[in-house]
Amino acid sequence: MDEVALKMTNVNKSFGGVQVLYDVSFDVRAGEVHALLGENGAGKSVLMKTLMGVHRPDSGDYIVAGKHVRFNNPTEAQRNHVSMVYQEFGLVKYLTVAENIFMGRLPSRRGMIRWGYTREQAVGVLDSLGSDVPPTAIVGDLKVADQQEVEIARALSYDPVVFVMDEPSSALSYDEIGHLYELINTLRARGVAMVYITHKLNEVFDIADRCTVIRDGSIVGTYDISALDISTLVEKMTGKKVSAEIVREDIYKKSKANIIELQNLEAREKGKVLFSDVNLTVGKGEIVGIAGQIGAGKTELGKTIFGALPKTTVITGKMIFDGEEIAFKGLNPSSAKKMGIGFVTEDRQAEGMITEQSVLFNTILPAFHRVTRGFVIIGRLARDMVRGIIKDVALRPPDPNRLLKFLSGGNQQKVVLGKWLAAQSKLLLLDEPTRGVDVGAREEIYDVVRQQVREKGLGVLLFSSDLREIMLAADRIIVMRLGKITHELLPHKTSEKQLLHFVLGEEEEGEAAGNKKE
Ligand SMILES: Nc1ncnc2c1ncn2[C@@H]1O[C@H](COP(=O)(O)OP(=O)(O)OP(=O)(O)O)[C@@H](O)[C@H]1O
Ligand SMILES: [Mg+2]
Repeated sequence: MDEVALKMTNVNKSFGGVQVLYDVSFDVRAGEVHALLGENGAGKSVLMKTLMGVHRPDSGDYIVAGKHVRFNNPTEAQRNHVSMVYQEFGLVKYLTVAENIFMGRLPSRRGMIRWGYTREQAVGVLDSLGSDVPPTAIVGDLKVADQQEVEIARALSYDPVVFVMDEPSSALSYDEIGHLYELINTLRARGVAMVYITHKLNEVFDIADRCTVIRDGSIVGTYDISALDISTLVEKMTGKKVSAEIVREDIYKKSKANIIELQNLEAREKGKVLFSDVNLTVGKGEIVGIAGQIGAGKTELGKTIFGALPKTTVITGKMIFDGEEIAFKGLNPSSAKKMGIGFVTEDRQAEGMITEQSVLFNTILPAFHRVTRGFVIIGRLARDMVRGIIKDVALRPPDPNRLLKFLSGGNQQKVVLGKWLAAQSKLLLLDEPTRGVDVGAREEIYDVVRQQVREKGLGVLLFSSDLREIMLAADRIIVMRLGKITHELLPHKTSEKQLLHFVLGEEEEGEAAGNKKE
């Protein structure tokens, strides 16, 4: 199993005179899961894209299965059984699942596309990763997790010898990650060389054999997982000594007034209950975490508060925002924004931002009234404000004029968050806000959020399937499962394990895990 399937040597890459990869050498063995780790902007995606022929390296030597290669484009790479699941989705939203999987190479006979056969093939690939997404569904109608599975299925359909996954799990629920792990184990047994990029370090210990850490475009080192612990790993990634636990404000102060209060909230779409019996409050200056799997109803609840569900959804119950009862009839995202509700979504590609525009443009969009007089944008005001935000969210590079598409994934997410902070929201709804954000940046983001919350009396509802995130960031935790609130917990009186049991609906184990802790 020690045979090297992929060997990259002395890869250098710069964009417009700015070097982002310095003499990077990296190899992956057949039948190995090799985690590629590093902070946002370290160069992970760019490195693998030079292999795929998405980016042309300035120099570098590539060997796949013993042969020197240099792919000019992804099609060429895929034909040679090197495929990649990209961090940003490359799916065509108005085409079907099957069309997306076999894009550019739909099976045909005598000039006719064999649709039946194509669908069968698609089902075959989807099956192998435990996905039941129908091949005839339009990709744009699918939820993010399903789109991610289609993305994986497409890469898999090239029968890869080298299989690169750039944050494949960030949009997946526990069950779906379980399927992904099974798939990875199957591919491992088949001798496929896998590169696994992730910011969830527990996954590294779950499935990787070795890992390579990259920092500021240079390799820090390659390590056997069995000889590594998590704090050493974080240290290698950040270059700084870290304390494993964030110091939590030890006294939980209950706030005086509520920014929002939900009473017996229920939403139905075409007779299907999205969630029901939701009663909760968020105090001014409080972060309430909603923990639950993808599909528990968290996103729907967030969208209800933001007025972003389709008009056909029937919503009953009461919502009191900043002391006033809000009628759901008149509520829509723009009226919600005006009231001071901000929504940071999980799907930053589709909803959060305009990648063809600059950081400056994207940040001032929701805060327009603060930098305009009449219809004129006051350039200086805008720039000052954006500089403040860039500093607050520790954007890298700190350049207001950079187009969003040239930022790394995690830094794009910081821009999304920054723009809502700029809009001076009273209540922030954060839906999987640190998806794709590295550990260092994640803590920076929590710090920003916490500071705003305490200083400005902002309320936050944090919806997350990442339990560590909930444990670290929330003052109070509400567990949602299958559209209902099942538990309310305090993070300092709960273990992550107990929370996981509750999220999965394993009450007894959860209680047991709780008792052990006392
Ligand atoms: N097309 C591009 N043009 C110019 N600069 C780019 C481009 N793509 C990436 N960069 C820059 O290259 C550096 C490395 O980016 P890369 O996307 O590889 O980071 P990453 O390690 O994948 O980070 P993340 O974890 O946030 O995805 C960053 O400084 C980024 O701003
Ligand atoms: Mg990346």
